[in-house]
Amino acid sequence: MSTSTVVPNDLNAFWMPFTANRQYKKAPRMFVAAKDMHYTTSDGRQVLDGTAGLWCCNAGHARPKIVEAIANQAAELDYAPAFQMGHPKAFELANRIIDIAPTGLDHVLFTNSGSESVETALKVALAYHKVKGEGSRTRLIGRERGYHGVNFGGISVGGIVTNRKMFGTLLTGVDHLPHTHNLAKNAFSKGLPEHGVDLADELERIVTLHDASTIAAVIVEPVAGSTGVLIPPAGYLQRLRDITKKHGILLIFDEVITGYGRLGTPFGADYFGVVPDIMVTAKGLTNGVIPMGAVLVSAEIHDAFMNGPEHVIEFFHGYTYSGNPIASAAGLATLETYREEGLLTRGAELAPKFEAALHSLKGLPHVIDIRNIGLVGAIELEPIAGQPTKRAFSAFLKAFEQGLLIRTTGDIIALSPPLIVSESQIDEIVTKLAGILKTLE
Ligand SMILES: Cc1ncc(COP(=O)(O)O)c(C=O)c1O
Repeated sequence: MSTSTVVPNDLNAFWMPFTANRQYKKAPRMFVAAKDMHYTTSDGRQVLDGTAGLWCCNAGHARPKIVEAIANQAAELDYAPAFQMGHPKAFELANRIIDIAPTGLDHVLFTNSGSESVETALKVALAYHKVKGEGSRTRLIGRERGYHGVNFGGISVGGIVTNRKMFGTLLTGVDHLPHTHNLAKNAFSKGLPEHGVDLADELERIVTLHDASTIAAVIVEPVAGSTGVLIPPAGYLQRLRDITKKHGILLIFDEVITGYGRLGTPFGADYFGVVPDIMVTAKGLTNGVIPMGAVLVSAEIHDAFMNGPEHVIEFFHGYTYSGNPIASAAGLATLETYREEGLLTRGAELAPKFEAALHSLKGLPHVIDIRNIGLVGAIELEPIAGQPTKRAFSAFLKAFEQGLLIRTTGDIIALSPPLIVSESQIDEIVTKLAGILKTLE
């Protein structure tokens, strides 16, 4: 046993994810409780949640229906084997997801995270072409600055260099579309940026390069969240849909952030009026409370697998915890909470207020862009020369000290409050941020 583990509550053993471990452990930031819009810190302070945890607690924290459903389910049926056995709530949850999903997405595969949902979607896409007799379609197309979780498929199609460069050759046969972020032309756009629809035509170039018969799928986030809220130019996703359809390429939307009400519609697909062949979700599905993801696929994809002898497994993929009873109960209670409180569309009502509040920060020191869509917003800061990320990270630390949780990525501050946020809490978030921006180096 390492001597470092003998001290009670020693922070050393836990190698924290996506965290500056040494900085954190010198000055830890601990949450010990949460309720509705607020966290409580270990020193008893209230922190307003400007980020829905990590884009996941769309209904806010410790919601009674979800808490109760989890407790009851743990007592009633804690675990059921996921393979060759079932339990009612997983089937019920799949149906409730399909009820709110865009028409054309009819079947659900369960996972335990966004990353696993991405891997599942990519594997479904590859296998679908194979079962259809088009096994030469093996190439996957992602996008620069895309984030699709941290597993090998996800980082291969993803486009964030820090997440890729340490990990060898990744998947082969992957190409990338250019990202759509254009500060020179689109800075301070409200809603969809005007310029950049033509960037979707890059897919035609990639198809010409490789030939459509080698391409299985294109995966994009409708709004790229983790890389700093990159909002697609008007018409861009529709054009991607048209091009993929024309060439028999599957379109996968990674809706891990945009799903479950974030844009003021149930899914990003609804916001943009573009239905993909496969949709990847997680986070808001269970309000972030129990790890769970769901991959939605069209009937055409599902049915293509339903061939051969009936006793044979149709798709060799799944997880020990796919459709776990407690996660399913949490998912059902979450969707019920969203329905009762109108949360899947509440973002649309609040979006004008949120937009006006955010854009009031224009002109403050270092602010080079503000952008927003639904209840997602970003404030991009000019990086300190030679020290990228430092300025935004210092805003994050100051915000935490002042009782506000924000998220930063690079030098971008991202905001995505729970969908229960009040108008006065939006004002509180923006007023605090204004004060912080004025004091940044
Ligand atoms: C678009 C997108 N895909 C995938 C993921 C990965 O999800 P997880 O961290 O649950 O694996 C995220 C996480 O933020 C995400 O934003």
